[in-house]
Amino acid sequence: MTDDRNRYPRPDRGEPTPEDPKREGADRAHNDGTPKRLSAPHAPREGEPIPDWFRRVFGEMPAPTSDMDAADHAQFRERRHEALRSLARSIPPVYRWASFVAPELAERVATPGAIAHARRICLSPRVCLMGASRVGKTSLAVAMLRRWVSEHVRPAEFIAVHRLGFARIQHAAGHGEPEIVERAMRAPLALLDDVGSERDTGTNPVPDIVFERHAAQRPTWVTTGLTREQLVARYGTGTVSRLFDQTKVLRLGSGEASEL
Ligand SMILES: Nc1ncnc2c1ncn2[C@@H]1O[C@H](COP(=O)(O)OP(=O)(O)OP(=O)(O)O)[C@@H](O)[C@H]1O
Ligand SMILES: [Mg+2]
Repeated sequence: MTDDRNRYPRPDRGEPTPEDPKREGADRAHNDGTPKRLSAPHAPREGEPIPDWFRRVFGEMPAPTSDMDAADHAQFRERRHEALRSLARSIPPVYRWASFVAPELAERVATPGAIAHARRICLSPRVCLMGASRVGKTSLAVAMLRRWVSEHVRPAEFIAVHRLGFARIQHAAGHGEPEIVERAMRAPLALLDDVGSERDTGTNPVPDIVFERHAAQRPTWVTTGLTREQLVARYGTGTVSRLFDQTKVLRLGSGEASEL
């Protein structure tokens, strides 16, 4: 079921948005590991259509695979655009800027090595970003999500976990799961952002979402400010062992970023 009631407003049109696959293509075109700010001649001109801007600055985008004909290629690009647009609708406005090509990313994710680690693991099915408040977990996770969707050409959902705490209480009994819980369970990739930030209610759906996704082998990413011990105290070992099963864990904070 798709329903946009709990999703965030769409970004303004007209500017090249970070989720635009052409920006992701632009990022790959640099391919030196450091995001670059576009200098004035390379920035989009007022009123310049994005495809023209991309061609002027980077040239033609390569075909996704060499044996695709023009119609397949157009369909592929449309599918990728749609997947990225769908992801963008679930991202909170305050993180709309976040992508690997955004110069702000390096300013807001200060842990040395964290962005390079994130680039390496961003196509993995299971990821957990851990660390104290404001170290850049969510910013980095959004950049990774855009890359995952652009590469896999499948939809993904940003799920703000604090919205889950009361979702079942506010939902009418006998009508299945609330829409946000349904999306969190079924999305091809779900980022559960800030696990532990939700109110600890008796109907908290987080453990059910984790069990359901694990059983169906659906890719699941998590950010959390809790330690593993704190997660166990809150959710129990069954939930936490599923969260960390074959998961790439990236720790942000003091010192170098570390990957497990
Ligand atoms: N839209 C924005 N404008 C200005 N600063 C921002 C914006 N988005 C993020 N930041 C800053 O980037 C830094 C990292 O924020 P981010 O929310 O990614 O951290 P976090 O580790 O997810 O924090 P938390 O544990 O509180 O969720 C913070 O200093 C934050 O203030
Ligand atoms: Mg966060």
